[in-house]
Amino acid sequence: MSSIDESERILATTSHPARSQQERFEKIRTLVRKNSDEASRQLAAEVAALIEKRQAEGKSYVLGLATGSTPVPFYRELIRLHQEGLSFNNVVTFNLDEYYGLQRDHPESYYRFMHDQLFDHVDIPAEQIHIPDGTVAMEEVYDYCLSYERQIEEAGGLDLQILGIGRTGHIGFNEPGSAMDSITRMITLDRVTRQDAAADFMGVANVPRSAITMGVGTILKAENLVLMAWGSNKAEIVKEASEGRMTDRVSASFLQTHDHAVFLIDSAASAHLTRFRHPWLVGPVSWDPAMKNRAVTWLSGEIGKPILKLIDEDYNEKGAGELLASTSEAAYEVNIDSFNRVQHTITGWPGGKPNADDSNRPERASPFPKKILVLSPEPMDAFIGMGGTLNRLKEQGHQVKLAFQTSGNLRVADVAALNFARVILEMADAQSVSGWEDQKQYAQSIINALSEKGEFGVDPQLVRKLKGLIIRGEVRDAASVCGLEPEEVTFLDLPFYEKGRYRRFQKTESDLAVMKEALSETEPDIIYITGEAGDPSSNQAISFQVFAEAWEQVAHEPWRKDCRIWAYRGRDGGFETHEIEMAVPMSPDQLEQKVESIRKFMSTSDDDLSASTRNREIAATYDALGMAEYEAIEAFRRWSN
Ligand code: GLP
Repeated sequence: MSSIDESERILATTSHPARSQQERFEKIRTLVRKNSDEASRQLAAEVAALIEKRQAEGKSYVLGLATGSTPVPFYRELIRLHQEGLSFNNVVTFNLDEYYGLQRDHPESYYRFMHDQLFDHVDIPAEQIHIPDGTVAMEEVYDYCLSYERQIEEAGGLDLQILGIGRTGHIGFNEPGSAMDSITRMITLDRVTRQDAAADFMGVANVPRSAITMGVGTILKAENLVLMAWGSNKAEIVKEASEGRMTDRVSASFLQTHDHAVFLIDSAASAHLTRFRHPWLVGPVSWDPAMKNRAVTWLSGEIGKPILKLIDEDYNEKGAGELLASTSEAAYEVNIDSFNRVQHTITGWPGGKPNADDSNRPERASPFPKKILVLSPEPMDAFIGMGGTLNRLKEQGHQVKLAFQTSGNLRVADVAALNFARVILEMADAQSVSGWEDQKQYAQSIINALSEKGEFGVDPQLVRKLKGLIIRGEVRDAASVCGLEPEEVTFLDLPFYEKGRYRRFQKTESDLAVMKEALSETEPDIIYITGEAGDPSSNQAISFQVFAEAWEQVAHEPWRKDCRIWAYRGRDGGFETHEIEMAVPMSPDQLEQKVESIRKFMSTSDDDLSASTRNREIAATYDALGMAEYEAIEAFRRWSN
């Protein structure tokens, strides 16, 4: 690691290098890497060097560890380094937290998680591993927590604590309200936190209500702190923790007091930091049309005036005066340019308008009709992200193919499979049906499998297959609300999903093969995708990566050079106004129809239904910029690699 530039080093050696003007809004040193793999590789290499240095001195290295999907690539990298010879025999670990009430062998216990993801693959002695015990009797929890603190001290204190960040801004499980000097203790989990864990536990009702966590004070005592965050879902909270006021509402903001705390994030998670979101506020920028448009749409929102009403003073007041000064344009000219740009994103013809002048339209007029491939990672994503647009594409005569990348069977509740099996048994018992021995046996084996695996166990193939069929029915129903026929819907059933569980998916070559075939077979003129900015461990992001790799591999196929790719946002956070390159308006009826399609899924949550709120918000934003007033808008952005 000696070749690395000191300012790029993650872990402090002595004191941290000075920050640039651009970073002056950030109260915590922040390193941005292209993606989680690159960041994790660097961190693992630095940690490995420190472990080995201590080995040479005959000393131990005390590492504080975190769970969640965020540190997984880091653990993967440590395992790889171990396979190359790095030993963990002098490493002592302390985990941040554990759900209260979960047995160690529960599939979602952090004990199990840490063994699956790291400990079982390296040579760390079992007695050097410490994870809070979620099974301690209630009356003993207090003393137990004090002893956990003591053990950390006796080990010599934490050399490094690895952290993720929850949507509430928590580190460990230090939910809003956690004091800066709090120590290891029992805590009640926030509603948002439980919701975020709902998929892991197959439903929010199954998520434990409390946990044991190291306190903020415990964490701050570590010599070095590295908080990692990946994906656009973390962008808002990263900014709040780093640039906001230090507050117990966001426990990660307490890292502002620590001399050796670093945020190590990917570019999607960095997007809301001032230096990236409003770069003109931190230094000179090159005012190309895209940058101007970005500043103007932002300014309009800040001042609360439509674009065409902005005057020179407004630019100055909000720190964007440099735009006018350096381009020597009057506000009026800049406003008009930006207004037209936004105006031209609006189209009722998402597949292009045949026989029309398309010089200012987001999509080309020809060919017509177009072959359009809509990719949806899980069954609900396409309906959430572009249900209205799907309907329009179909109505406007295009050849639409809606392809579900994964089966989505993890979204189907046990009770749905159980009910299905019971119906078969009841039908078989009914007078009218005879000779259903095989069917009865099948139904019984489903019922047995469900009871054997228990509430949180992994579904055996038989059950997953049935759940997959159940969700297929819901999908066809939802697609028909959007005007699609069953033959326009296909299921790719990517293998990675069938083998995995949420946060534990791993793609393989066979995923790529399936995706490639789907592309080559369709030869689309337009592809709609999502997941490009998602949490890298999510189903959406992995499905996207599989697509992106397959896209590379079909580079030589002739249809590809004329194929355009539009990204939509399903469950991931939406686009910023300046990022939108196509805005498809929806009437109140169309919006209603979209909501109806989302409701077709038994697993639909309030969060899923709030897609309509987001579509209304985009329309309201466009309205405020001075565009026509629509009920709702679905937004898209061109993707190219
Ligand atoms: C849980 C853990 C945290 C973790 C957070 C974020 O709440 N207790 O330590 O940082 O989840 O999880 P993820 O990394 O999966 O986004």
